[in-house]
Amino acid sequence: MSSLRILVAASEVAGFAKTGGLADVAAALPRALARRGHQVAVVMPYHRAVRFGRQEVTPTPHVINVPVGNRLLACRVMQSTLPKSDVPIFFIDAPEYFDRDDAVAGRGLYQQTMPGGYKADYPDNAERFTFFSRAVMEAIPAVGFIPQVIHANDWQTGLLPVYVSEMMRVWPTYARMRSLFTIHNIAYQGMFNRGVLELTGLPGYLFNHAQLEFHGHLNFLKAGVVFADAVNTVSPTYAREVTTAEYGCGLEGLLIQNRHKLSGIVNGVDYGEWDPAHDPNLPEKYDVDSVFVHKPASKAALQKEYGLPVDPTRPVLGLVARLVSQKGLDLVMSAAPGFLDLGCQLVFLGEGDREFHDQLQSFRDKHPQQVGIYLGFHEPLAHLVEAGSDLFLMPSRYEPSGLNQLYSLRYGTPPVVRATGGLADTIVNASEENIKAGVGTGFSFIDYTAHALYETVKWALTLYRTRPDDFRSVVRTAMRQDWSWDRSAERYEDLYRKVLS
Ligand code: ADP
Ligand code: GLC
Repeated sequence: MSSLRILVAASEVAGFAKTGGLADVAAALPRALARRGHQVAVVMPYHRAVRFGRQEVTPTPHVINVPVGNRLLACRVMQSTLPKSDVPIFFIDAPEYFDRDDAVAGRGLYQQTMPGGYKADYPDNAERFTFFSRAVMEAIPAVGFIPQVIHANDWQTGLLPVYVSEMMRVWPTYARMRSLFTIHNIAYQGMFNRGVLELTGLPGYLFNHAQLEFHGHLNFLKAGVVFADAVNTVSPTYAREVTTAEYGCGLEGLLIQNRHKLSGIVNGVDYGEWDPAHDPNLPEKYDVDSVFVHKPASKAALQKEYGLPVDPTRPVLGLVARLVSQKGLDLVMSAAPGFLDLGCQLVFLGEGDREFHDQLQSFRDKHPQQVGIYLGFHEPLAHLVEAGSDLFLMPSRYEPSGLNQLYSLRYGTPPVVRATGGLADTIVNASEENIKAGVGTGFSFIDYTAHALYETVKWALTLYRTRPDDFRSVVRTAMRQDWSWDRSAERYEDLYRKVLS
């Protein structure tokens, strides 16, 4: 079959700038597509993290002129390749919008820390990402990569399908271009006041409730859903969930209307980055045959890193997450004293809402022998938590796909998950029955309650302590799962072909 030409646009890409799983997907899917013989390129903003990052980035000769409202902004296109590949990645260099993230100063890619310690979106986010989408349109002819499909991701690139369909198609370069819009998280919609429409340069008549308007606001995510030729979410279960009031965040009606073009594809794992068999962040490498010999070294290193007693007999529960309500932290905090009574150590790695930082800090201060925290973004430590913990906690309120549970499978650290979204699609509960059948890979529960989480951890610990053979068989089954990107990339390939036909 003929090869495809795809441009993936995202606001973050692993290796350059990252706050969560979107970055992992935007780095791994293009490489997987390239391995399948397609021509793929990626485009993202030239954030400060990219400018001062480890990957070498060089200027291209191309300077593009980007209209924003009634201004015209000249900016240079920079370039590099995705790590460990020759997939080109382009960066839009506009310092006034993107040269500002700085962890020490409390400024992230989308938010800044305010004087009271809480986080607030940058007041010019609408302008920043309108600009970015418009710049992508201008960059396409400049760099000479004319895609058949533009693959936009989340609200930050929600205007891309609109530009393709409503503004650019009159030009030959864009005439046959199609778009795919992927929803990684419907809770973040990019809702702004209607004045932003002026900045976009889009015709005013699009501001109506069937198109760009959502309750009097301009909604970037809705824009992507309405104007893309196809829409997907990052798991089949989440694709169903977003059509319900419980999970749709107000857009369930829109998604029901657009059911004909909505599907779900679960994320894959980049095993080049996430595999204990060659992970440079672990003291000893291991695979499914050597896990019980060499994983304990990671556990000891983790306990040491977090200042906890190094004790191989104490079960360690690990959590790595953006510290936001999505991740079920309220359940964890209310079940946590129970976990301590069960003799566990708890280690947390995360960054996010102030309330969770405060709660974790005071919990650790009360139980310094059993609780370790690291509040910040630390990629090597994320790998060590995956490897060194005995169980990985991910009791999400909702989870579009989730990558951490897939990483923990490969690291032989059975995840404890709430069966929602991608967690429901990827984890097989180690019930008595499933253990007997040799198919259990983790521990899952359904009700969003601290009690359900606690009981599930208790069951996992019963196996861990009193039925080690069964626990070990769950670990081995988990490690043997194959969630590599190849399979998911094939599904995306089908979807691209579908929008082109
Ligand atoms: P989400 O995208 O909702 O944050 P995912 O499970 O899809 O959830 O992906 C989270 C990604 O972000 C993983 O690669 C995880 O290791 C990483 N991550 C999250 N918080 C941190 C942190 N504080 N330090 C390092 N990595 C983190
Ligand atoms: C979002 C979701 C997460 C998903 C990631 C990448 O951040 O919260 O579940 O894995 O996007 O698709």
